[in-house]
Amino acid sequence: MGQKQFIESSRDQGGIVFRPGLEGVPVTHSAICDIDGIQGKLSYRGYSIEELASQSTFLETTYLLIWGELPNPQQLRDFEEEVQRHRRVSFRVRDMMKCFPATGHPMDALQSSAASLGLFYSRRAIDDPQYIYDAVVRLIAKIPTMVAAFQLIRKGQDPIQPRDDLAYSANFLYMLTEREPDPLAARILDKCLILHAEHSLNASTFSARVTASTLTDPYAVVASAVGTLAGPLHGGANEDVLAMLEEIGKPQNAANFLQKAITSKTKVMGFGHREYRVKDPRASILQGLAEELFARFGKDEMYEVAKAVEDESLLNLASKGIYPNVDFYSGLVYRKLGIPRDLFTPVFAISRVAGWLAHWREQLGANRIFRPTQIYTGFSGRSWAPPEDRSMKESN
Ligand code: COA
Repeated sequence: MGQKQFIESSRDQGGIVFRPGLEGVPVTHSAICDIDGIQGKLSYRGYSIEELASQSTFLETTYLLIWGELPNPQQLRDFEEEVQRHRRVSFRVRDMMKCFPATGHPMDALQSSAASLGLFYSRRAIDDPQYIYDAVVRLIAKIPTMVAAFQLIRKGQDPIQPRDDLAYSANFLYMLTEREPDPLAARILDKCLILHAEHSLNASTFSARVTASTLTDPYAVVASAVGTLAGPLHGGANEDVLAMLEEIGKPQNAANFLQKAITSKTKVMGFGHREYRVKDPRASILQGLAEELFARFGKDEMYEVAKAVEDESLLNLASKGIYPNVDFYSGLVYRKLGIPRDLFTPVFAISRVAGWLAHWREQLGANRIFRPTQIYTGFSGRSWAPPEDRSMKESN
């Protein structure tokens, strides 16, 4: 039986409606992030993404997401100082990372390193607000250090230590590129981190909540979410967008490329979203950030190709509610910031850890272990037979 027939046949079986991928099925209440996919609006804790991206910082937004309110000046100072103090990772973590194969994907390196933190901070006291605060600080502080460390280690270099005089995003770019970044570049990365910090119950956040619901430690929660984010259907479409733009090559090829994609039902990378029927508000902000960067550091020639693809898409994809998503312009921004292509998803993870931890805390506040059900489609009542008595057909 094909999957489609199976879906149809299993509807309304004993009152159970089967929704593959849980599409449209609410599985939690949440007060963290609201998406209006028709109006193209996104807000964190009631604050619009536009306002946060223009006024806030990544660390302030992280605090807002996790504790529900913007911090007062003392809370913000304390949080920033704590994060700064915990940026270093143990030499044991660095040594462990030196044993990772240099050809391995940075997301796999990050998942392993994040999980290893649970070994170093093995006390599990998820009822203790101080434990929660400390775990948040450690994860927010150390994930960028681990991403940058793997980048240098795989090039055969020693990781460099964080610099206490640099703010969060500037320090990450410094650890990655070994150069103090231009303040504009650091500010734009910080805005990118705000834009990617949270997006309701996507696959990795759901994964985080499922793991959290077992009452395990936050390092396991983040490691499972990193593993989920690594898949090509979730993080990583921005890498494919750059490849696609390079394949198109010139703005004048955009119309032909789109027509071919539509005829052959090939997905145009960086377009479409389960939640949005209009242009993703983050894509509009990222496009503005790309333009700011290009005005200062020179244009990426693929930007004109991207704009031509977007213009053409208005003629043939927009009628289906398919518009640029967050990944369409982010790769161009990251490339201009000097971030290697296979680090785009780890940079996404650096940011999304804020959302995962907000959901971890929310899940703990009203926990019920996730344990969905299934519709069994296998055999029943079979009898075991010794191998020599099994026909080929049966063993298939
Ligand atoms: N390019 C062309 N057509 C697209 C499209 C795209 N990027 N995304 C969706 N469509 C079309 C589908 O072909 C389908 O058309 P049909 O009804 O004629 O068959 C229709 O829109 C619905 O597509 P579907 O895949 O069911 O939508 P979804 O909500 O499940 O998919 C995505 C959402 C994000 C998975 C999908 O749009 C996609 O794969 N986009 C490209 C990858 C990407 O940019 N991912 C990053 C997401 S932030």
